[in-house]
Amino acid sequence: MTTRPAIDVRPITEADIPDWTRALHTGFLRSPAPTQEEIDSRTGYLLAHRTQGAFDAGRCVATYRSFDQELTVPGGHQVPADAISNVAVTATHRRRGLLTRMMTQDLTAAKERGDVAATLIAAEYQIYGRYGFGPATSMTEWTVDVLRTGLDARRLTPDDGGRIDLVDGEDVRKLGPDLHERLRRAQPGAVSRDDRWWQVNTGVVHLDRTPWVEPFYALYRSPSGEPEGLVSYVCDDTWHDKQPHDTAQVNWLIATTPAAERALWHYLCSIDWVTQVKSGWRAPDDLLPLHLPNPRAAKATTSQADWLWVRLLDVVRALEARAYDGVGALVLEVADAAGLAGGRYRLEAAPDGASCTPTGASPELTLDIADLAALWLGDESAVRLAALGRVREERAGAAQVADALLRTSRRPWCPDMF
Ligand SMILES: CC(C)(COP(=O)(O)OP(=O)(O)OC[C@H]1O[C@@H](n2cnc3c(N)ncnc32)[C@H](O)[C@@H]1OP(=O)(O)O)[C@@H](O)C(=O)NCCC(=O)NCCS
Repeated sequence: MTTRPAIDVRPITEADIPDWTRALHTGFLRSPAPTQEEIDSRTGYLLAHRTQGAFDAGRCVATYRSFDQELTVPGGHQVPADAISNVAVTATHRRRGLLTRMMTQDLTAAKERGDVAATLIAAEYQIYGRYGFGPATSMTEWTVDVLRTGLDARRLTPDDGGRIDLVDGEDVRKLGPDLHERLRRAQPGAVSRDDRWWQVNTGVVHLDRTPWVEPFYALYRSPSGEPEGLVSYVCDDTWHDKQPHDTAQVNWLIATTPAAERALWHYLCSIDWVTQVKSGWRAPDDLLPLHLPNPRAAKATTSQADWLWVRLLDVVRALEARAYDGVGALVLEVADAAGLAGGRYRLEAAPDGASCTPTGASPELTLDIADLAALWLGDESAVRLAALGRVREERAGAAQVADALLRTSRRPWCPDMF
């Protein structure tokens, strides 16, 4: 029997980038060989981020990358987060603990650096709970039957005195970052975005082997001329029986005001030939259906899919950073098998601020760190988790107290995939 040398998990160097990129594509079941353009365009940010690889006899068999991010919490404060991406283990090397090794190293370093949380978008639900991640935001996708909206397709102009213009990728790169910045600073669950996002999403950086298809971009300006909304969409040029049946597929839509949101949805539903609008990934309580005279024209084609997963690394700062509408106190017993953030904490919350301190007082609610993450941004209900046996009430009514403090009137939402 031959014994194989141990697999080396380490930060990558520039020389590893072609092999690392091949391993990433292999794990994601894409054609493995990267183009030179892709290698060149990935090099800078892979080396600037915390990028790990696992190497078996010199060949890359697992990939992992993390980078600095800001996450907005209820009330509009931002906390530093460790964003995790590009997690892929080659099929021949799965279930040997490679993800666990890379994740353990990364979370330990993030904790030492002072990050409040780690974040990711999970490819599969079952992967990350074991590392203390809980689903903290969700998303919904709507399909709008344009002919049933009750909108008058002849009225293309916004009814509030604002205007919509088609713009090109260069305008998007100029105006988009500021619009997104305004949105994400006010939107609990949203995360910071770097310039590269705008380059990739306007075709300046192209990572795919398939050719770039330039989308349409529509910009909404308020009556005073202020840019307040931007949408990217493509149409599919479909005809049946001599009738146009185009679907407008929204790639992304940013609106900093409800008026901008309304004007952009109305615009999309008013384009000649378009009989269906697909909304892309939206907040679960998005206003889209209610912007239509007939909300039933918007059907949730994906409802309630988990989106941003969060791993709390510092419970005190996490609970003190967010805002609370109610007044109350609660002692939480937080279990964390990884030993990163567990303990007993007393949360005292009020609209003018909160304190969270380690305590020796009797616990009122016992829960795992992953379930606290699901409650933290206000989306999940402690009463629901108690019904499932995942949260335990040590004092009757404690789950209801937790909901009264933690739940928010609008649901958190992360518009980004990273
Ligand atoms: C998900 C993935 C990264 C896991 O890597 P891995 O190195 O096999 O993970 P580990 O060996 O460290 O597994 C840790 C534990 O998680 C479990 N696990 C890992 N992936 C799982 C999955 N997809 N579903 C259920 N359980 C999973 C393992 O069984 C193991 O459990 P155990 O300790 O009880 O045996 C790998 O399967 C993969 O690359 N999948 C395809 C790409 C992908 O989905 N990437 C994630 C993108 S967000």
